Amino acid sequence: MSAPLISPSILSADFARLGEEVRAIDAAGADWIHIDVMDGHFVPNLTIGPMVVKALRPHTTKPFDVHLMIAPVDPYLQAFADAGADIITFHPEAGPHAHRTVQAIKALGKQAGVSLNPATPAKMLDYLYEEIDLILVMSVNPGFGGQSFIASQLRKIEAIRKAIDKTGRDIRLEVDGGVDAVTARQCVDAGADVLVAGSATFKGGPDCYAANIAALKGVG
Ligand code: DX5
Ligand code: ZN
Repeated sequence: MSAPLISPSILSADFARLGEEVRAIDAAGADWIHIDVMDGHFVPNLTIGPMVVKALRPHTTKPFDVHLMIAPVDPYLQAFADAGADIITFHPEAGPHAHRTVQAIKALGKQAGVSLNPATPAKMLDYLYEEIDLILVMSVNPGFGGQSFIASQLRKIEAIRKAIDKTGRDIRLEVDGGVDAVTARQCVDAGADVLVAGSATFKGGPDCYAANIAALKGVG
C-alpha cells in the first residue's frame, strides 16, 4: 500500500507566524496545505477568510486544500478561487444545491471536494461521484483541532473506497480530524489516500515537523 499524502491543517500553526509555518511544513514534506475556513455559524468557531489565503499563496507552491465550513458557500467560491485555492471542499448541509456548488467550483477551474460530517451518510454522495475530485470524511465534528478520532468513520471510509473504485474515476479520499500515527494507519487500511493532520503535524514545534509528517506517512 502506498504512503498517503499528508495535508497539514494550519489551524494548529502559530497564527502570528503563518507564512513561516507554511514554509516550514512545505520543507518538512507536506504534500498539500489544509486551510480550515470557519464562519461561526455553520460550525462554532471563526478562522480565516480569502485575504489570508491570498497572503499565504506566495509562501508555497504546494496545493492549497481549502476546507470551507461555511454557509452559504456559493457566494464565496470566486474569492477563494482568486485567492489561490487549488481544491475547494464544502459540506452539502451548507446549502440546498450541492450539485450546483460542485459545478460552480469546476467552472472556476478548481478541483471540487465534498465533505461528510460524522453523522452524514455516504449515500449523500451517490449522485455526485461523476463530478467530484475529492471526498473528505470528517472523523471529528468540525469546528476545532485537537479532538479525538471517531472510530465509526472507518466503516464509512471503507464504503466510500469501494464506491470510488467502482466508478473507476480518480477521486481522492481524505480524512480529517484526530489523525495521528495510529489512526493514520487505520484510515489508510480503510482506503484513505490523503490525511489531514493539525495537532499531529505541529506538535513539538518546527524542529519536529519533518519527523511528524514522516510518522503519519508510516515511514517515520
Ligand atoms: C476540524 C478541521 C480539521 C482540524 C484537524 O474542523 O476541519 O482540519 O483542524 O485538526 P486535528 O488534526 O488536530 O484533529
Ligand atoms: Zn479541515
